[in-house]
Amino acid sequence: MLEISGLSRQFDGTEALDGIYFTVAAGEIVAILGTSGSGKSTLLRMVGGIDNPTSGEVRLNGRVVTGPSPSLGFVFQEPRLMPWLSVRDNVAFGLGELPRGEQRSMAEAALRRVGLADAAELWPRQLSGGMAQRAAIARALVTRPSVLLLDEPFSALDAFTRLSLQEHLLEIWQDDRPTMLFVTHDIDEALMLADRVIVLLGRPGRIRRDDALTLPRPRRRGDPRLATWRERLFDDLSGTDPAPEERAAGGG
Ligand SMILES: Nc1ncnc2c1ncn2[C@@H]1O[C@H](COP(=O)(O)OP(=O)(O)OP(=O)(O)O)[C@@H](O)[C@H]1O
Ligand SMILES: [Mg+2]
Repeated sequence: MLEISGLSRQFDGTEALDGIYFTVAAGEIVAILGTSGSGKSTLLRMVGGIDNPTSGEVRLNGRVVTGPSPSLGFVFQEPRLMPWLSVRDNVAFGLGELPRGEQRSMAEAALRRVGLADAAELWPRQLSGGMAQRAAIARALVTRPSVLLLDEPFSALDAFTRLSLQEHLLEIWQDDRPTMLFVTHDIDEALMLADRVIVLLGRPGRIRRDDALTLPRPRRRGDPRLATWRERLFDDLSGTDPAPEERAAGGG
């Protein structure tokens, strides 16, 4: 459904991302883990059409992505709500051309999906951090996108809120199974949510790992199979794992 081929991005002559290839099936949940500066946000922005690659392309259902689209919902690390609009109007903001009544009912439906039906009339400043991020998810869901892109959506939240929003995100996904690509620093978050884990390392960022996580849901945090994965990913990210070419040569 999503095809990322030969994607590279340079900023002022410096390569941030180099030769990224992967495809994502409809309904798949893919976690992107990586060290800071490895180009995770850059990759996600290009998939979402809010930045353009220096070379390579992103295709959604066969069509090259050249800009933002209602099929692609984006959630940033911070909620980015507009303080002068009610929660409902923030969620409806991207529905510009539709009649007002329709915008309203679509925004309210999206707010119900994230459990914020009662907060429609509130101002952003009246929301807790977790509520504000749920409103941001509602804003991304309002166009019923087939792909949901999330860039460290829960990293600014306290641990308890983060866990509850992770569960909530899975419930939302279960409704109509959007394809999800999410960036995280949190190995456990990737292990709880993802069907597949992509690890991006280095500068420029390249794919070090692209592995299926074939564990049924719901998953238990204490599952020993997750412990093996946790260790593997930790080694990737901390750089203690030998590079594939060294491993092949028997080094490291
Ligand atoms: N608009 C920009 N102009 C210049 N350089 C940029 C720009 N955006 C990103 N970069 C550079 O590209 C590289 C990758 O940045 P990116 O934000 O994608 O990394 P990241 O993996 O998301 O990092 P983090 O984990 O800290 O969020 C970095 O070296 C960064 O400085
Ligand atoms: Mg980032």
